[in-house]
Amino acid sequence: CGIVGYVGHRQALDVVLGGLRRLEYRGYDSAGVAVLDGAGALRVQRKAGRLANLETQLDADDRQAFAGTAGMGHTRWATHGPPVDRNSHPHRDASHAVAVVHNGIIENFAELRAELEADGVELASDTDTETAAHLIARAYADGEFAGDFEASVRAVCRRLEGAFTLVVTHAEVPDKIIAARRSSPLVVGVGEGEHFVASDVAAFIEHTREAVELGQDQVVVITREGYQVTDFAGEPAQGKPFTVDWDLSAAEKGGHEYFMLKEIEEQPDALANTLRGHFHNGRITLDEQRLADQDLRDIDKVFVVACGSAYHSGLVAKYAIEHWCRLPVEVELASEFRYRDPVLDRDTLVVAVSQSGETMDTLEAVRHAREQKARVLAVCNTNGAQIPRESDAVLYTHAGPEIGVASTKAFLAQIAANYLVGLALAQARGTKYPDEVAREFADLANTPAAVRKTLATTEQVRALGREIADSKAVLFLGRHVGYPVALEGALKLKELAYMHAEGFAAGELKHGPIALIEQDLPVVVVMPSPKGRAVLHSKLVSNISEIQARGARTIVIAEEGDDAVRPYADSLIEIPATSTLLQPLVATVPLQVLAAEIARSRGYDIDKPRNLAKSVTVE
Ligand code: G6P
Repeated sequence: CGIVGYVGHRQALDVVLGGLRRLEYRGYDSAGVAVLDGAGALRVQRKAGRLANLETQLDADDRQAFAGTAGMGHTRWATHGPPVDRNSHPHRDASHAVAVVHNGIIENFAELRAELEADGVELASDTDTETAAHLIARAYADGEFAGDFEASVRAVCRRLEGAFTLVVTHAEVPDKIIAARRSSPLVVGVGEGEHFVASDVAAFIEHTREAVELGQDQVVVITREGYQVTDFAGEPAQGKPFTVDWDLSAAEKGGHEYFMLKEIEEQPDALANTLRGHFHNGRITLDEQRLADQDLRDIDKVFVVACGSAYHSGLVAKYAIEHWCRLPVEVELASEFRYRDPVLDRDTLVVAVSQSGETMDTLEAVRHAREQKARVLAVCNTNGAQIPRESDAVLYTHAGPEIGVASTKAFLAQIAANYLVGLALAQARGTKYPDEVAREFADLANTPAAVRKTLATTEQVRALGREIADSKAVLFLGRHVGYPVALEGALKLKELAYMHAEGFAAGELKHGPIALIEQDLPVVVVMPSPKGRAVLHSKLVSNISEIQARGARTIVIAEEGDDAVRPYADSLIEIPATSTLLQPLVATVPLQVLAAEIARSRGYDIDKPRNLAKSVTVE
């Protein structure tokens, strides 16, 4: 979910809606705002669906009724309760004095709810969040913390289990907004005569670049004049101040119809930025290295844990890391990892890959790995996010902000970063000579140019996308590193075009999936380089002829000059030559473009696919 809170000299409604627009990628099941009018009233409006629905409602309500200089807002990605008006945030207590917006899950909410109901409180929604509003209102009204807003919020935070970012307002305390966090992101924006709280800096960079990151179990009170941080017990605490290093234009569409299209175009820069500075005096370096060289030398097993596209980046990396380092690499979905008692010890390296750095499944996998004494290295696109904070070493993918929900530039950057991890390990373990490491790095450094070249020829892919946009399903096939590329191509199509799409290892075709082939079914095949492993190439040529013989429409992604494959390709998409291991960095690009174009021709919003959220902060 996306959260923003504001106290200052401007109209809070404008600031909050502006912030929500930039946070909408975090969830768009519903949106809501609350504004304190300064005269003891709290105005709330909320609406299921996109932020635009809320704005239409606010126009109908008359925005003047929402005048006030303190307020907050929320865009929701539903967890408890369906995405209907009633479950939209902010949630209030019965007297409508307290309003709360929340990201995360309050795990003991059933118990809290039962307690409230036993006391005669009637709950108006199905959410876990509403319990917090009632509890805070009660703590403020009566008992030990009566009349003390801060103390009431802290007392309730101490009772909550699970992960949460909460932002709370009280009608009787119109000059303050209180926010708290546990295992869920929260940053403060420091302006002049105004302060912000938000789930990420995108919400307020329009107004200030000075930010403060809150630590675990901290509460912040913002007013016009300042902010004050304490822990849940009320002891003074410190946040971590930082200056946001990307500007607003980086988060805006830059002339493109969709963020995703802009982000696809930005891939050469994203790759170059990820690689920049990581090869110094003949050595690969990481960003934050809290592991000794000896620790890297002692590693005898690697796990890559991640979700979604980040998981696919790990599948690609397995081929490189095993080949370069002679270390066994297991790649596992973060949501499966910790529940099956994986074999971990201090000589295990767990590479946690996450664009956002806040995906709850991945964060919990990191925590499990650390409890088992494994070393954790985070590959992350978000400075200072929770996953890198809890890891022993970090490699940042400097892909810049990614707003489109379906990952593109962050995915390519993750592959490049994972490869740097592989080279760092090979260097520490001595499985590659320094000149070999230097050569691999130089090859990697050529990939931005290859991606740029690929992007220059995507018109043909778009035309093809429009042609096959009405297909029932699309299959994707690949071998070796082309297999995870096929999985990623299928995922993009599912996410964006809501089409049935499956990726298969081409060799598995004859063991089942070939039964799916029917007349004119589009099958996308990722061909390995003919100059690389000849055997892979010839096996794939056989696979394509098998499916073509059964009536499939073959769409072949192959290296320029790969003439052997021509007779089997109903459509041929050519990509620049690279080494086998680097091919995913170019071969993925046409698949992204294809999925985006199919989705566009089907009339969908490719930045905000239905039911998805960019960053999933619940398990
Ligand atoms: C969500 C997004 C995916 C992303 C996955 C992992 O499901 O929709 O695009 O790949 O989370 O996100 P992360 O931020 O951990 O890389």
